[in-house]
Amino acid sequence: MAYPVASRNKHHLHTEIGTTLTRLAGFKSAQIAVAAIALKEWWRNPPDDMIVTEILPANNSSLHLYRDALGWEPVTNPAKTKELHRLCNEYIDPADKGRATIWFCCNKSVLPKMAQILLDYQDKGALKNKAGTAIPLDLGALDTIGLTRPRLEKLATGITDKNRLLSASISQPPHP
Ligand SMILES: CC(C)(COP(=O)(O)OP(=O)(O)OC[C@H]1O[C@@H](n2cnc3c(N)ncnc32)[C@H](O)[C@@H]1OP(=O)(O)O)[C@@H](O)C(=O)NCCC(=O)NCCS
Repeated sequence: MAYPVASRNKHHLHTEIGTTLTRLAGFKSAQIAVAAIALKEWWRNPPDDMIVTEILPANNSSLHLYRDALGWEPVTNPAKTKELHRLCNEYIDPADKGRATIWFCCNKSVLPKMAQILLDYQDKGALKNKAGTAIPLDLGALDTIGLTRPRLEKLATGITDKNRLLSASISQPPHP
């Protein structure tokens, strides 16, 4: 899920990515799901400020996912983490409020890596575990919103300017 935070008119200040539940142990599907969601939000419905996620320090699987696999960067500015705590946790259960958490930000610098994760998946054509079991996952919705393969390829090279990405051809070249 992607949650718009502090919405004002048609704008929102931050986007919090959370509640990404994948239940296919061993298929590394979480990084594909989060990369697809985060890139979609950045492309179609970007916040005025940050795309973030909040992780408890003992949540090793999520730390591994966001920090190590996706390369999201910790938010270290105390004023910013205070703001995120206040805005993002406004409506959560009182019992969950006030816990020490770590915030990670999807900076522009990590967009290329996430694009590459999606390209790698497209090249493989299916989720695969070590035993060789394959599960197809349809990422065609990205194409539908304009995050086409040519644009993902450009993004993966480090071009994050949307106008330059828009100039990449919309459709994929036909298969030979
Ligand atoms: C838990 C979760 C990350 C598992 O993802 P997955 O892709 O199905 O996991 P896999 O079993 O394929 O393992 C992927 C990697 O995570 C590692 N991992 C899985 N569970 C782990 C755990 N409990 N602790 C540490 N590492 C773990 C695996 O060892 C593997 O590492 P590798 O890539 O270096 O080989 C997934 O359910 C998830 O979506 N979590 C995030 C939820 C979220 O977004 N919450 C909001 C922020 S807290």
